[in-house]
Amino acid sequence: MTRFALKRRQFLLGIGGLSAALLTGQPLRVEAQQPSLAELAKQRSLLWGAAISTEMLTIPDWAGLYRQQTRLLVPEWEMKWAVLQPDRDRFDFSRPDRLLTFARSYQAQLRGHTLLWHQQLPTWLNNLTATETATALQRYIDTVVGHYRGQLQSWDVINEPIAEDGYGLRPNRWLQQLGPNYLEQALRWARVADAQVPLVINDYGLEPDSPLATRKRQQLLQLVETLRDRDAPLQAIGFQAHLVANPQAPPSFTGFAEFLAELSRFDLDFYITELDVNDRALPANFAERDREVAHLYQRFLTAVLPTPRLKLVTTWGLSDRLSWLNQFAPRADGLPQRPLPFDFNFQPTETYGILVSLLQSQSVSN
Ligand code: G3I
Repeated sequence: MTRFALKRRQFLLGIGGLSAALLTGQPLRVEAQQPSLAELAKQRSLLWGAAISTEMLTIPDWAGLYRQQTRLLVPEWEMKWAVLQPDRDRFDFSRPDRLLTFARSYQAQLRGHTLLWHQQLPTWLNNLTATETATALQRYIDTVVGHYRGQLQSWDVINEPIAEDGYGLRPNRWLQQLGPNYLEQALRWARVADAQVPLVINDYGLEPDSPLATRKRQQLLQLVETLRDRDAPLQAIGFQAHLVANPQAPPSFTGFAEFLAELSRFDLDFYITELDVNDRALPANFAERDREVAHLYQRFLTAVLPTPRLKLVTTWGLSDRLSWLNQFAPRADGLPQRPLPFDFNFQPTETYGILVSLLQSQSVSN
């Protein structure tokens, strides 16, 4: 087991969190009755959900929290290429099939995430020629999208195609081996495999008012224009919205709201796909951290909720018991991050309260 997976498992099993339980003295029970974010969102014609993994289904309170709070799920990592096709001639759908079954058990939907990405790829894909890569890619899309035909809310076909610095497309293996048309080709292959499912391009770092985000937004606009000119099948853009708290310069989102208005001429839906707040720059104190995290959720969603074509919001996880941030962006003080609407013990955080009031507010209409 990788160090990453071990650390994740420690958090999952509560070794890291027992201290949290002692700190907060909270019972390990989900509150019987608290407003469902999904039910409140539904009243605004929004789908509300969260990323999930099968390990979370092994803890009844966790599964119960998903049933109570979500009507849309997205596999955090178990629908990626390394999991679905670990060997060249072996597909394994067991993990996402379990998530689909769980979603259906309470009338929720499942998003497909993600067909093409530069991470979590199987090793057998390495050292292929360009022709072999194209053949493998077409077979993968045809097999995976075909397996879930008619069963998913949407598919993230391409994840993070924009270059890290915002100048051009990311130089991933697809670009290097297949050229810039790989995006259109992947979208067309997905459409052949499922004639109806909404096809999505998903990316991050597009939201804040910053020179980098501005560059990434301009690059995305160019990409959408090209795909529209070529009549490529594309129904939505996913904005990951991994927000980063910065007490010295709290992020704002004016440019993002304007960008969504500019993008709306392309007849696209907008998805907020991986919403959470990185609190590593905030003090250790829970109350101070939770307040700043909640306020950042509020600033972002106040800017975004009025967008007419906004169709869904998913947070990247539901409980702080497991967040990618603790492995990928650990706090210097070693404390677990508090990025999500529910804490380690599945208790609502200040962020949850802000989300409830935002979703109930008439002044923030969409
Ligand atoms: O593969 C092992 C598996 O065999 C083992 O049973 C399991 C035990 O926990 O661990 C698995 O490992 C890791 C998995 O997370 C679960 O821990 C993978 O090695 C690791 O790569 C994977 O990381 C995920 C990452 O995407 C790569 O897929 C993160 O959980 C997930 O939060 C992250 O999500 C990405 C989005 O897809 C795209 N946007 C950015 C976001 C954050 O990086």
